[in-house]
Amino acid sequence: MKKIIAITRGDGCGPEVVNEGIKILKIISQFTDYEFDYIDAPAGGGVWKEFGTNLPEKSFETIKNSDALLFGAIGLPDLPPGVAESAILKIRQGLDLYVNLRPVKLYDILRDNCPLKDQFIGDGIDITFVRENTEGIYKNIGKLEKDSAENLMLYSRKGCERIIKFAFDFAVRKGHKKVTSVDKANILKTSQLWREVFHEIGESFPTIETDDIYIDAFCQWLTRAPFKFQTVVTGNMFGDIISDEGAFLIGSLGMASSGNIHPGKVSMYEPIHGSAPDIAGKGIANPIGTILSVKLMMEESFNSFEIGNEIDSAVEEALHEGRTVEIKSEKLKTLSTIEMGDLIGNKLRSRLKA
Ligand code: IPM
Ligand code: MN
Repeated sequence: MKKIIAITRGDGCGPEVVNEGIKILKIISQFTDYEFDYIDAPAGGGVWKEFGTNLPEKSFETIKNSDALLFGAIGLPDLPPGVAESAILKIRQGLDLYVNLRPVKLYDILRDNCPLKDQFIGDGIDITFVRENTEGIYKNIGKLEKDSAENLMLYSRKGCERIIKFAFDFAVRKGHKKVTSVDKANILKTSQLWREVFHEIGESFPTIETDDIYIDAFCQWLTRAPFKFQTVVTGNMFGDIISDEGAFLIGSLGMASSGNIHPGKVSMYEPIHGSAPDIAGKGIANPIGTILSVKLMMEESFNSFEIGNEIDSAVEEALHEGRTVEIKSEKLKTLSTIEMGDLIGNKLRSRLKA
């Protein structure tokens, strides 16, 4: 199976972590029927400085004509906020990537690295945030004037339906018993529409329990009893915020992966962390967020759940031996970005060979 993978390395530590993602793809192609071609699609702050645009047309064309996009991170500290980052929104909107899938799973070996006390972790953390990714405030209808500014939060019924339907299908696929919807229906009209659609769609999934909760209360429960949640579906802005909160619970932001997905179409996979300019070029960034994004790519774009599982197991095995520097541990060896990628790669190689 030949697949074209567009590659956006981006800024800061982006290129370093993307290299480790490609390492994993190369191992997959060595031991399975997959053949990958890699085509660069530069975007971000560095590109903006050179060409005056954060997403050159040629890059967008490359992405559109690929089977999936592996994306590093973008953003430079000497550019005003948004100048580099809006490339991400152009890709999400341009490809209508309406699902933002953000799993956060605490590997047992990192339990001590979770900022929560043991009593709050309970049985463990394994939550998938399903964030609406094209509507709400992010539709970017707004204006900034001298004495006032406005943004419009706009949701269509169709937009709510498709993301909520995805979340229920996802829960069925994962064997989850419950879907939790996060909104602010006590205040926002958009949330009232969302909640109505959530229950309408929930009715056609009688085996799945439905639960809705206000965003403020959810933020509290996420640290108080994260084990209560499995699939969590929410709007664009709330999803942005709670997925960072969730990502911190698994020991490091560097561990968290994501997929910007339109089922059946070109989708984009990126770690949740940003370009981390403070550590860029030092070779210490955690590549696991990117490697787990490759896992999501194999599963969601190429329907290869077995390979996805092998990547997950390879990461877990590797974490018994080493970790990158931001994960504090006396038992585990400190590894560089490349060494961590090699270790996971070796574990994956032995698993795929077997
Ligand atoms: C994210 C990021 C983006 C967002 C920014 C960089 C546009 O924070 O992917 O969560 O707000 O969605
Ligand atoms: Mn974010």
